[in-house]
Amino acid sequence: MLTTPQSNPSAELKTSGKSSAATATHGNGQKNAAAVRDEDTGRPLGIRPDHPPEKSQAWFDRAQKVLAGGISSSARSTSTGPWPCPLYIVDGKGPRITDADGNSFIDYLLSYGSAILGHANPGFMQTVKSQLAHGTMFGTCNTVEVELAEEICRQSPCAQLVRFANSGSEAISGAVRAARGFTGRNKILKFEGHYHGWVDVLAVSNRPGAEECGPLEHPTSRAHSQGMPAGVVQDVVIAPWNSPEILRDILKAHAGEIAAIIAEPIVANNSCIMPQPGYLEFLREECDRQKIVLIFDEIVTGFRMGPGGAQEHYGVTADIAVYSKAIGGGLPTSAFAGRRDIMAPVAANTVKHGGTYNGNPLCAAAALHTLRSLNAPGAYEGIRRHGEGIMDAIRRSSHDCRVPCVVQGVGSMFQVIFTHAPGPLLHYRDLLHADARRYGAFRQALLEEGVHANSSGTACWFISTAHGADELAFTVAAVGKAMRRVS
Ligand SMILES: Cc1ncc(COP(=O)(O)O)c(C=O)c1O
Repeated sequence: MLTTPQSNPSAELKTSGKSSAATATHGNGQKNAAAVRDEDTGRPLGIRPDHPPEKSQAWFDRAQKVLAGGISSSARSTSTGPWPCPLYIVDGKGPRITDADGNSFIDYLLSYGSAILGHANPGFMQTVKSQLAHGTMFGTCNTVEVELAEEICRQSPCAQLVRFANSGSEAISGAVRAARGFTGRNKILKFEGHYHGWVDVLAVSNRPGAEECGPLEHPTSRAHSQGMPAGVVQDVVIAPWNSPEILRDILKAHAGEIAAIIAEPIVANNSCIMPQPGYLEFLREECDRQKIVLIFDEIVTGFRMGPGGAQEHYGVTADIAVYSKAIGGGLPTSAFAGRRDIMAPVAANTVKHGGTYNGNPLCAAAALHTLRSLNAPGAYEGIRRHGEGIMDAIRRSSHDCRVPCVVQGVGSMFQVIFTHAPGPLLHYRDLLHADARRYGAFRQALLEEGVHANSSGTACWFISTAHGADELAFTVAAVGKAMRRVS
């Protein structure tokens, strides 16, 4: 059943969008989805199918002359439904974004979950502006990084010592080096389909094709990219997720060799595949038995699912957790944080970790503001309820339209997988049978209805504190229409 959403309670957190979710309400108190329009133009949200995004196309034409592939990340999409260009977003306010052609959308990409307070949040901007007035970086120790590290140690179950970096991939590299330094072992065990960044150290079997996976009991380690050294790939042992017996056998085969097991506790990069009950506890026990460092990649889940992230949610404490995305609230920052003894070699400088921009006061101030704002009463609850409302709407409309799918995740992050398989999906390989074409059509229909979701069906929808009752009502209606169009 659709739960009636509440606007998130903190006035400071609830930003107004560029488009107005007007005041009209239905008799039952639910906001009027039809009243959501662009404030500047009065246009309905969404992109019109008969109006190709000409300005975005022109920017992409220019981009391709000077940016490799026209993009700044291999993961960035280069097309929008039928059009051979990405949308160029030029403005964001609260839960809304607007592209170069003036099309506005309610945004559920949120910079892959980073903009957890919504876009251009007033308090966030004020914090950044006041830090700007004092300088952005000095290449010295600064007071804000200390306060931020203290806040992380208060909130994160495993954090006793913290180191900052600037992207998820960088912080992952630091965590892996810390684990290798601490244990004196080389190999890292990661799970098939989990994503831990683009750098060599763990870009293995991120998204292997069916023919590349190898046997389930002994998956093949596959370099995710050309240009990676074979030795690095050999040091990454791959296991299937959610399969305790197979993992036990793989660990036996590599006894004494494995420095760390690393996992996305909820697999944000595999359409929010959830851990089977008891599986994270099993990882904890195996790591304890074999003196392996347990690393939770909480780059997506951290400070998004709650102050203590997935560790708190599942009651399982890792040895090191890695954070990015939500922590920065939309500015680039990241951290790895863990047990004092494991981080001791980093502290003693025998395990080296550097970075000009690490812990810079601009991003640290933004992060501190973000973490404190998320702890305002009702902030996490508002995020959760909004997401659950959309998950319910997808389930209900797919049932009504007889479109087979699985909706999985938690309120703050979730995904729909179009598949005939009964849910929940447990393994990366289950996703290989998903109907990617139908996901693409659903996403395009949503864009036309004014809702911007991730272009990749293997990623997630994300919610911010700026998403309120109006946006939920609008999105629920949009989901219903989009589902009818793909049925
Ligand atoms: C779970 C996870 N780990 C690591 C990364 C890499 O982070 P970054 O893109 O900031 O390097 C990502 C990025 O999407 C991620 O989702």
